[in-house]
Amino acid sequence: MRTALGIDVGGSGVKGALVDLDKGEFITERHRIDTPKPATPEAVADVIGQIVTHFDCDNDTPIGVCFPAPLPGGTIPFMANLDQSWVGVNVADYIGQHIGRKVFALNDADSAGLAEMRHGVGKERNRGVTIFTTLGTGIGSAIFVDGILVPNSELGHLEIDGYDAEKRAAASIRKLEDLSWKKYIKRLQRYYSEVAKLFSPDVIVVGGGISRKHEKFLPYLELPCDIVPAQLRNTAGIVGAATFAAEGGH
Ligand code: BGC
Repeated sequence: MRTALGIDVGGSGVKGALVDLDKGEFITERHRIDTPKPATPEAVADVIGQIVTHFDCDNDTPIGVCFPAPLPGGTIPFMANLDQSWVGVNVADYIGQHIGRKVFALNDADSAGLAEMRHGVGKERNRGVTIFTTLGTGIGSAIFVDGILVPNSELGHLEIDGYDAEKRAAASIRKLEDLSWKKYIKRLQRYYSEVAKLFSPDVIVVGGGISRKHEKFLPYLELPCDIVPAQLRNTAGIVGAATFAAEGGH
């Protein structure tokens, strides 16, 4: 069995599991540690080290980490939802040096999108332009053209009606502002209409924890393309990170 360790760094938790790469499934329980506060590079790298130790994997097991920020060339240009001290840090180099193991790093939405293309929605549909989005603390995005990732897109930060889009339409905002589904659907409609207008995708995939409740909002969105729920749910980030590492970061 081909396996790798995937680790998903989020705003509230850092989660890891060993992944069966052929099936795209966990072969262990998920191990979760609260995201340290403040979530500085050193504190987060410590937690990642604890997760690696927990799984006690040998030196040949690839390790992939997905991160809630873009990483063009490996280095973070801006950070929306973790500590600002990450800006300018090369994530894979920093964590690798800190834990004494080679690691591969990629954006969290790119990671979840990769897993979804391999083992979820993408099994049936991987032609044309697919835009994968995650609705969570922020909005993450991953663009695929004929199944190939165009990395580090940041469609959660489109400015729409004078707002950073994720500050209006992320799932966390629905809770924060205590929005009814009707009001939240309006915001999603505005957001996804703009994404569809700018990119003419063939399909938009909606992931993130809220996609479990997709029947509450997806049927009400009117778009010129298909919009479907992600199939992998909360395993996707970890599975994608493990896959990315096993493939040498490509
Ligand atoms: C970040 C993205 C990330 C998304 C989901 C956004 O605020 O800029 O890089 O993918 O949140 O975590």
